[in-house]
Amino acid sequence: MTKIRQEDPCLLILLQMTIKISKHELFTEEIYSFDMPNFKFWKKEINEIVKIENNAVHNHSTDLEFLSNIQARRTAWDTHLRYPSMLNISKEFIKIIESFVKSENFDVPSINLTELWINWYVKNQMAVPHCHGTAFSLVFFVDVEKSNTSFLINKEYKKFFLMKKNNTNSFNNTIVDIKVKDGTCLMFDGGLNHSTTPNLTDHKRITLAANFEASYPTLKKNVY
Ligand SMILES: [Fe+2]
Repeated sequence: MTKIRQEDPCLLILLQMTIKISKHELFTEEIYSFDMPNFKFWKKEINEIVKIENNAVHNHSTDLEFLSNIQARRTAWDTHLRYPSMLNISKEFIKIIESFVKSENFDVPSINLTELWINWYVKNQMAVPHCHGTAFSLVFFVDVEKSNTSFLINKEYKKFFLMKKNNTNSFNNTIVDIKVKDGTCLMFDGGLNHSTTPNLTDHKRITLAANFEASYPTLKKNVY
């Protein structure tokens, strides 16, 4: 540390001043979670689909032909229209979200599920930071604990100057690391950036994701 000479009057005055710096929190980000009802039943249904799509013998893969932000295997975006059990789970999600919208008094007259798909990550696979761009998104963590992976929320606009040491969960930092239990569903704004840590184990990490859009009466569509 620099030693200040006692005879320097300007520096002495500076030392005697106390500058109070105030913090002003601007935004907070909420995400929501719940335990999926009938988790064991839905896990079995989802595992069956993964088994079928993952086995070349069945010759029934609905996966995309290119790698997306999800650098792993997955089913088609409209999996709820391809498997009756996934249409049923989509109806469960809509019921849950509708009751949540009502209890939180969100300005959402009607909500539709637009996409639903299943992801499975084998060793060294992960999801890079991305967002879904829809009004609302949901991730159902079917089998994640044994692969010891984290779900990360990424803040895209932050630089590094204000990062605090040993603190990954402050609003001033760029990543929030969430360890989620099997059977949990997380819901969040579809514009929220998120990713996963890589699966470094031999255990398959399985999740289901779904997107939702809100619809409003015609008159409101023209109000900006
Ligand atoms: Fe995602």
